[in-house]
Amino acid sequence: MKNRFLVYLSLTVLLCAGSVSAEDEPNMIGTMGKMQLFLHKLSLSVEADNPKLADFYAHELEENIEAAKRIDEYHDIPVGQLTEAMLVPSFEAFESALESDDPEQIRSRMGELINACNACHQATDYGFIHIQPSESNPYMQSFEPKGD
Ligand code: HEC
Repeated sequence: MKNRFLVYLSLTVLLCAGSVSAEDEPNMIGTMGKMQLFLHKLSLSVEADNPKLADFYAHELEENIEAAKRIDEYHDIPVGQLTEAMLVPSFEAFESALESDDPEQIRSRMGELINACNACHQATDYGFIHIQPSESNPYMQSFEPKGD
């Protein structure tokens, strides 16, 4: 009985310690990696003229943009503010292009979205991280329209 209490106690302490350190260091690299993943899958869906899948990945990307907006500061970089100012407008323009269903506009807004990622990398002295369109599909997944 006493032993079990001690196990619970140490688990609680461990969990609390974990959440404190997670707050101290925002998950910047994880958020960026997910943005890259979903942007890539989004662009593969666009290239395959698959609006349904593009909608799905636009939503996943948006969730990670929201996560970036919640990062107040990372190594003195005001990530949230910069994301709001430099990335959100291009993302919103892309979303309305997606709604317009005009393939040319969608592709051109996709290009601008990628430029916005790189503009922030340059503004934060990470210009050496250069996102570029890639049409190759490394995933175990088809991006072609497939029914519902
Ligand atoms: C706030 C400005 C900002 C915006 C907007 C931004 N990034 Fe980043 N990005 C950074 C910073 C700063 C780093 C370096 C993070 C670090 O040191 O861990 C980074 C790192 C990365 C990395 C390296 C991590 C990895 O997994 O290889 C990738 C990839 C990346 N960003 C992709 C993107 C993509 C894709 C977008 C657009 C959808 C984007 N970023 C938008 C600031 C930004």
